[in-house]
Amino acid sequence: MRMLVVGASGYLGSETARLASTTGAQVTGTSTTGAGGWSRLDITDRAAVHALISRVRPAVVINTAARMDSWAVCADGAAHVALAAAAIGARLVHISSDAVHAGRPEPYADDVAPSPLYPYGAAKAAAETAVAAIDPAAAVVRTSLIVGDERSKQVKLSLDLITGRRPGALFTDEIRCPIDVTDLAAAVLELAGTDHAGTVNIAGPQAVSRAELGRLVAARHGLDPATVPVSTIAEGRLGPRPAEVLLDSTLAAGLLRTRLRGVAEALGVA
Ligand SMILES: NC(=O)c1ccc[n+]([C@@H]2O[C@H](COP(=O)([O-])OP(=O)(O)OC[C@H]3O[C@@H](n4cnc5c(N)ncnc54)[C@H](OP(=O)(O)O)[C@@H]3O)[C@@H](O)[C@H]2O)c1
Repeated sequence: MRMLVVGASGYLGSETARLASTTGAQVTGTSTTGAGGWSRLDITDRAAVHALISRVRPAVVINTAARMDSWAVCADGAAHVALAAAAIGARLVHISSDAVHAGRPEPYADDVAPSPLYPYGAAKAAAETAVAAIDPAAAVVRTSLIVGDERSKQVKLSLDLITGRRPGALFTDEIRCPIDVTDLAAAVLELAGTDHAGTVNIAGPQAVSRAELGRLVAARHGLDPATVPVSTIAEGRLGPRPAEVLLDSTLAAGLLRTRLRGVAEALGVA
């Protein structure tokens, strides 16, 4: 089976491409530079997206590409991928984010309408709308902080703050449901084999603050959890940020066999 992983040079994309290859899929991956032997693709170039997808003719397209500061990549690029995938009738799985939500104490079900607080969340929300309008059969995965080894942005942030490589602190009141990169990649691939349409939450079952996540990362790496610099969101003065965003992944748990581990178990410090 031919599969296209858009953003195969990224953290989730590389793990998705690796896992898919182990199951015998013929994987074409993309990167913006062509690095890693992947096909060069800039998804802001609609014609280039169309040309690559028409040439590869994948049965499945998994779009993991994103750039936090770019509406053109997150929103317009997602629409370009959806249009090209729909043109050849490919099954599309688009990766979205818990950043579409404003935050609230109650967990978010899969179909709660977006309420983004900042531009990245707005771009991811716009992408969800575009993907659903272009291809109502597409699956849209809302996920949370992606963790694993040092290539994870979240793990690297914790290590950089603990070791003083960058200034700042991890928030005690910003709560998320981190997910292991391999669990997420396996779940995304399994989802691609279903006919699920629309948004689905795929996140870990253990809600932790970013500060707690930092302490787990410290423990994983033999560092003293007490050295994790912490603050509240208000003290961090980074502007409006969602506080509690808990993704309820009950639907995914019923739909998929892949077990989604809690973050402490995934990091090996349970
Ligand atoms: N990381 C998290 O904690 C987190 C949390 C929630 C949701 N998500 C979502 O999960 C997905 C994967 O995240 P990640 O952390 O694995 O991402 P990542 O490591 O930052 O990788 C991003 C990928 O997007 C590609 N990309 C960037 N600009 C592009 C463009 N113009 N055209 C084509 N590709 C482009 C990058 O290619 P190059 O490297 O070659 O430029 C790279 O392969 C994203 O959709 C993200 O929004 C992530």
